[in-house]
Amino acid sequence: MADATTCDREARAILAKNDRGGYTVPTAGLYPYQWNWDSVFAALGFAEHDMDRAWSEIETLFRGQWPNGMVPHILFHQVDPGYFPGPDVWGGVGPIPSSGISQPPIAGTFVRWLLDRNPGAQPRARALFKPLMDWHRWFMTWRNEGGAIVVTHPWETGRDNCPDWDGPFAAIEPEGVEQYYRRDTTHVVEEERPRRYDYDRYLYLVKLGAESGWDEAYLKDTTPFRVADPTMTFTLLRSTRDLKVLAERFGEPVDELDRWIAEMEEGSERLWNAEAGTYDCYDIRAGKHTGVVSNASFLTWYAGVGGGRMLDQFDRIAGLTKYYVPSTDPAHPAYEPKRYWRGPVWAMMNMLIATGLGEAGHTDRAQALTENTRALISKNGFAEYFDPTNGAPAGGRDFTWTAAVWLAWASPNTGKTPWAA
Ligand code: DGY
Repeated sequence: MADATTCDREARAILAKNDRGGYTVPTAGLYPYQWNWDSVFAALGFAEHDMDRAWSEIETLFRGQWPNGMVPHILFHQVDPGYFPGPDVWGGVGPIPSSGISQPPIAGTFVRWLLDRNPGAQPRARALFKPLMDWHRWFMTWRNEGGAIVVTHPWETGRDNCPDWDGPFAAIEPEGVEQYYRRDTTHVVEEERPRRYDYDRYLYLVKLGAESGWDEAYLKDTTPFRVADPTMTFTLLRSTRDLKVLAERFGEPVDELDRWIAEMEEGSERLWNAEAGTYDCYDIRAGKHTGVVSNASFLTWYAGVGGGRMLDQFDRIAGLTKYYVPSTDPAHPAYEPKRYWRGPVWAMMNMLIATGLGEAGHTDRAQALTENTRALISKNGFAEYFDPTNGAPAGGRDFTWTAAVWLAWASPNTGKTPWAA
């Protein structure tokens, strides 16, 4: 196990190594571009030692915002043949070559956190306020099913191959997908990545969107994949609450924000699966819940909804593996401890979960999760994700968001507990 000071130094070195000037790649090789929420986590890591660099990370991300308000999940600043699918496959229509889908909207919350630590940067936060509002409005216009926020591609949630998509994917026949060559499995062993079956469907959905010119009105009616998701709903609701705080500080109107908050508080109920006793996904096309307890289910406190509803599930799952929170309930038949979002622990999800737990007053659980993640990283390094049974590192290494959440949260030296701030 490396001591905390060594880990702090390594984490800073990883951020520096993955810095491409104004933006950070998640890790060299496997993900050689700017990813949306990876970047926002990176900003919080930079905030520990370089506030200016923290702000510029988010500013660069918003330079890729589309005219309709969408902020893409990948910005292809410089073409790299080591990643597939690249800009030619996506056919993005924004100011910077990009993908055509978005990612969990955590930026409003993180901008508020940055400003709390760095009040002198108010002009920079103000300049981001309208772009943030436009992005939230895009979600509320195109991705809003009764206040539950839907995705049109699994990659939007970040939880690429979680078992929640197994049902919706079984209903998709990936016709017309041309022969393709995966690059991810040249960087990471196949057992830790999604299966070919999933990739065929990922590419089918990219093709559908690209052929429509990423026409949200068209996709809303036609795509076979339209699933309401807890990561999207809970992070957008949380971020909207934080935008409201910013609006009040900046003397901006809050009526629209109040409306969105009320809608999403109601929409969160659509994700409550009473039969399974959990928040999960809701498949709009099939009209049913997906029935999986995932780490996204535990973002309920981060969103400020649900009260104590998920506490028993949390305690049950925390007791099943050495390291938690596993991305899929270990008691679920589809659980695989090494395969990406079908089981592994993700440190950045743990930071959001612990933040919510702490804010809701469940400070013992928040503290225990912080310490568990601290041990996980200091024993196993800055991997993309970890096997919950023994902490074995998996996926990409020298990973930006793992380094960032170490610095911003898990480290005993630099880390903060946002709920206590
Ligand atoms: C990938 O390429 O695996 C990414 O998760 C897509 O965002």
